Amino acid sequence: MDQIPNQDNLKDKDSLSADSGQSQDFSEKESYEQEYLIEQKRILDQKEKDLQSKLDELQQNNQALEARELKLNQKIQNLQDREDNLRQQLLELKNKQQLLEDKLKKESEKKDNLCQALIFEKGQAKLRSSYVDQSGNSLKECYDVFSKDMFRSKLDLPNLGELEVIRHFNCLSKLNFSVDTNFYPLGSCTMKYSPKINDYLAGLDGFSNIHPYQDQKDIQGALKLIYSLGQLLSKITGMERFSLQPSSGAQGELCGLLMIKKFHQSRGNNKTTVIIPDSAHGTNPATVSMCGFKTLVVKSDAKGLVDIDALKSLVDDQTAAIMLTNPNTLGLFEENISDIKDIVHKNGGLLYYDGANFNPLLGITNPALMGFDVVHLNLHKTFSTPHGCGGPGAGVVGVGKKLLEYLPTPLVLEKNGEYYFDYDLKHSIGRLRSFYGNFGVLVRAYAYILRLGKEGLLRVALNSVLNANYIRTSLKDYYQVPFPGVCMHEVVFSCSKQAERGALALDIAKRLIDYDMHPPTMYFPLIVKEALMVEPTETESKETLDYFIATMKKIDKEIDTDIDNLKKSPLTTCVGRVDEVKAARTPDLNFFFSDKKK
Ligand SMILES: Cc1ncc(COP(=O)(O)O)c(C=O)c1O
Repeated sequence: MDQIPNQDNLKDKDSLSADSGQSQDFSEKESYEQEYLIEQKRILDQKEKDLQSKLDELQQNNQALEARELKLNQKIQNLQDREDNLRQQLLELKNKQQLLEDKLKKESEKKDNLCQALIFEKGQAKLRSSYVDQSGNSLKECYDVFSKDMFRSKLDLPNLGELEVIRHFNCLSKLNFSVDTNFYPLGSCTMKYSPKINDYLAGLDGFSNIHPYQDQKDIQGALKLIYSLGQLLSKITGMERFSLQPSSGAQGELCGLLMIKKFHQSRGNNKTTVIIPDSAHGTNPATVSMCGFKTLVVKSDAKGLVDIDALKSLVDDQTAAIMLTNPNTLGLFEENISDIKDIVHKNGGLLYYDGANFNPLLGITNPALMGFDVVHLNLHKTFSTPHGCGGPGAGVVGVGKKLLEYLPTPLVLEKNGEYYFDYDLKHSIGRLRSFYGNFGVLVRAYAYILRLGKEGLLRVALNSVLNANYIRTSLKDYYQVPFPGVCMHEVVFSCSKQAERGALALDIAKRLIDYDMHPPTMYFPLIVKEALMVEPTETESKETLDYFIATMKKIDKEIDTDIDNLKKSPLTTCVGRVDEVKAARTPDLNFFFSDKKK
C-alpha cells in the first residue's frame, strides 16, 4: 500500500522553502499540499475500493450462509415430518398388536371355556331336553318288558340335545394334535403315515364282523391273512417264523425274552444276565426285570455305538442275551454288529433285536443277516397303524431256527390249502394274550406291504433316512449334534447351547406347538443332555421339513429376543404349561369327586 506522507516530511520541505524566498515558498508549499491531498485522495480511494471488495466478499459469504441455513431448515423440517410419520406408524402397529393380543386371548379363553366346561356342566345349566320323554308312552312300553324296580328314579345324564352333544365332542376333537392335522416329528415313538385306505380295508365286514370263536372253516380268509402276513414278515426280516400275537412292542420284548429264558432253561442253563446299551429304550430294561434277569448296561463309545471293549468285559457264561436296537435310539447304525454277534454267541448268549423302528432298513438289510435270533417289529409304527396313545398295536415276534419251538401258541399254519390254529409246539411259552392279537392292525400291515411291494418298501427306507439327514444338516449349526455323522431315520440334537442361553429342550419343544407342530421326543435317549429326538418320517414333504427347520432357527433366535414368551409357551393352546410331575404323581382324573369341584 502507498505510504501516506507525514507532517514531519512536510516540515522538512517548509524549512527548505524558508531558505529560497517567501512567494516561491508559498507556491511551492501549495503545490506540495496539493500533491499531498491528491496522494491522500488516491490512497483513500484505494482504501474505499479495498473495503468495497471486502464488503462484496462478505455479502457473497452471507448469501451462501443464508442459503445453507435455508437448506438446513428444510432438512430439519423433513426430519420432523418423518418423525411424526414414524410416531403415527408406531401407534398404528401398537394398536394392531393390541388387537392381535386381544384376539389371541379371546381365542385361548374360548378354547379354555370349551375345555373347562364339561358336558355335564353344560347340561346342568339347561332344562331337560325334550328328546327323552320321561313320563311319556315310550317309558310305559318299557314297563311292559322290565319291572318298575329295575328303573332308576334319577339318572345324572347331561340335559343336552343331540346337536349340542355332537358339537361339544366336535369342539373337543379340534383341540387335539394329531398326525392328520399336524407335523408330528416324534422320535422313537413315531406317528407315521397311515393310509386311510387301510382303515377302510380293516373295517370291511368280513374282517371287522367276525368273531374268534367262529368255526375255523368260517374264517379261512382271516386265517389266510394272518398266515400270509407272517410269511411276508419272514421275507422282510429273514426270520423263520412269526407270531403275530403280542399287542405292543413291550409285549413283543416280553415274548422274546421269555423264549430266550426257556431256551436256556431247556438246556439246563439258568443264565442270569441280559446286556442292554445305555441308549436303550426304557421298555428294554423293564422287560429284562419282568423276566427275572439282571440288567447289565454297556456304555456307548464316542461315536454313540456299543463300546466293544466294554461289551467284552460284560459278556460271560451268565449272559442270556443282548438286546439291541439297530439303528439305535441315537438314530445310528451299529456298524460293529458282526463283532457283537460273535462275542455274544461265542459265550452261549442270544441276540434280541428291538425292531420297533424298522423303516430305515426295509429292503436294505435284515436282522437275520446281522445274526439276530429273535426280533420284534412294531407294526403300529413301521407298517401303517399310528403309534401312540396306548394302542391298539402289534409287536409281532419273529425267530430264527433256534427258537422255532418256543413261539407262543396258537400259530396259524396251512395244510393242503386250509388254514388252522396249531397248538402243538414242544417248548412253547404258551399264550400271550386273548385270541390272536389285534387283528385290525394286522389287516392294515398286510395291505400296506402288498400295496408298496419290494420297491416301495425300499423307498420308505431311503426317504426316511434322507429326510432325517436333511434336518440334521440344516440345523447342525444351530443345535448341537452330539454324535455327528450320517444318521438313519431319526436325528438326536442336544439343546445344551440353548440351555446356556436360558432355554431348555422343554421350552423349545413346547414352543413348537405354537407354530402348529408336535414336539419331538424330549430328554431321550438319556445319555444326551437336553435331548430332542426328531423323526420326520418318510412321507413328509420338503415344504413341511423346511417349515420345521425355519421354525427351529426362529425359536433359537427367540432365546435372545423374546425368552419370556418362550418360557411360557405354548401360548395358543387351551392348556398351557402344566406341572407334569404333579400330573403324573397326583393325577386328578375324576370331575365329580375331585376336591377342586366339590
Ligand atoms: C426302540 C423301541 N423299543 C420298544 C418300544 C416299545 O413299543 P410299544 O410302545 O409298542 O410297547 C418302542 C416304542 O416306541 C421303541 O421306540
